[in-house]
Amino acid sequence: MSAPISEAFTALYGRAPDGVWAAPGRVNLIGEHTDYNDGFVMPFALPHTTVAAVSRRTDGLLRLHSADASADTSDGTAGTEGVVELRVDALAPGTDPHWTAYPAGVVWALREAGHPVTGADLHLASTVPVGAGLSSSAALEVVVALALNDLYALDLPRWKLARLCQRAENVYVGAPTGIMDQTASACCTAGHALFLDTRDLSVRQIPFDLAAEGMRLLVVDTRVRHAHSDGEYGKRRAGCEKGAALLGVDALRDVPYDGLDTALAGLGDEDEVRRLVRHIVTENQRVERVAALLEAGRTREIGPLLTEGHASLRDDFRISCPELDTAVDSALAAGALGARMTGGGFGGSAIVLAETGDVETITKAVAAAFAAAGHTPPRTFEAVPSAGAARLA
Ligand code: GLA
Repeated sequence: MSAPISEAFTALYGRAPDGVWAAPGRVNLIGEHTDYNDGFVMPFALPHTTVAAVSRRTDGLLRLHSADASADTSDGTAGTEGVVELRVDALAPGTDPHWTAYPAGVVWALREAGHPVTGADLHLASTVPVGAGLSSSAALEVVVALALNDLYALDLPRWKLARLCQRAENVYVGAPTGIMDQTASACCTAGHALFLDTRDLSVRQIPFDLAAEGMRLLVVDTRVRHAHSDGEYGKRRAGCEKGAALLGVDALRDVPYDGLDTALAGLGDEDEVRRLVRHIVTENQRVERVAALLEAGRTREIGPLLTEGHASLRDDFRISCPELDTAVDSALAAGALGARMTGGGFGGSAIVLAETGDVETITKAVAAAFAAAGHTPPRTFEAVPSAGAARLA
């Protein structure tokens, strides 16, 4: 992908890029909404990436162009049409409702942290589906952060880049997300799921080669588009924080698994908070169990834990939707080993763990169930654990 994107960059900006970088989207195997509760998550990188051709500038200008932006009608060869031009010293949080807020937010976060970024020309192209719960925004942030880290010789470690990207998303874009997606895009490695402790950001690369064991992981994109800044995500986050405060702990991560019943009983008539707390605590335990099973080579046994995770997100956290439930229920009825929604919820994608020989039957069954329910046809594809962000050229 680096040759065409370099050519498009050269056509736009009249010079060759200094380099080309890529950062992937992700699916989360298990550990949903635990990341802003100091808990555990286990995402892996998708083969779908956002690619950026980038050159440094020293005159304070940030010029941004995307091959995918719907507002951009240029063919990439017609000069700088569709290029958005900003001044790095005029970047201000909460002022940009467009896709450009993500790359601009990263430049803003780097400069806020004292890194002397004096401008850049960027051309971006992505194969990560937008709004599908597969972290297209994190891929966009991380590819920009990695490119600027290299071009400005900032020498920041990956976890730090992820933190700066999260700050861009939280403060500049205004979406109160956790640290999972950016860390996944920056730190995943091919053939592995990433066990991340979001409290200290320590990671464990867990071998996850399903094909070798006769299994596949399918992603079912329901095509129901979701957005994190629309309030429901923030409400769940606030509810979790209230739960931690009521229980007198720093974060829900600190509720011991064997103390859950006592903690729930102590929440009095706070039923909504009780459900949120129950999801977070049981979900953290599921992540640890899945990690232990994978490390013990007992991969098939993770299926029921994935399915339990879905029930918890549907019934306790209340962030599923009819299309996600249809995907999960129909896949399980057709013989899947386990299935759950993945990502922030309210749409986006589900994942399905299946024996290789059952993939076709399950894919057809899910499509038929969507048709019977009158839902838009889903898009189903296999997810292979892929590489994290990297320089391509
Ligand atoms: C979104 C957020 C993540 C995480 C997930 C839910 O993807 O960006 O930080 O909270 O939702 O697990």
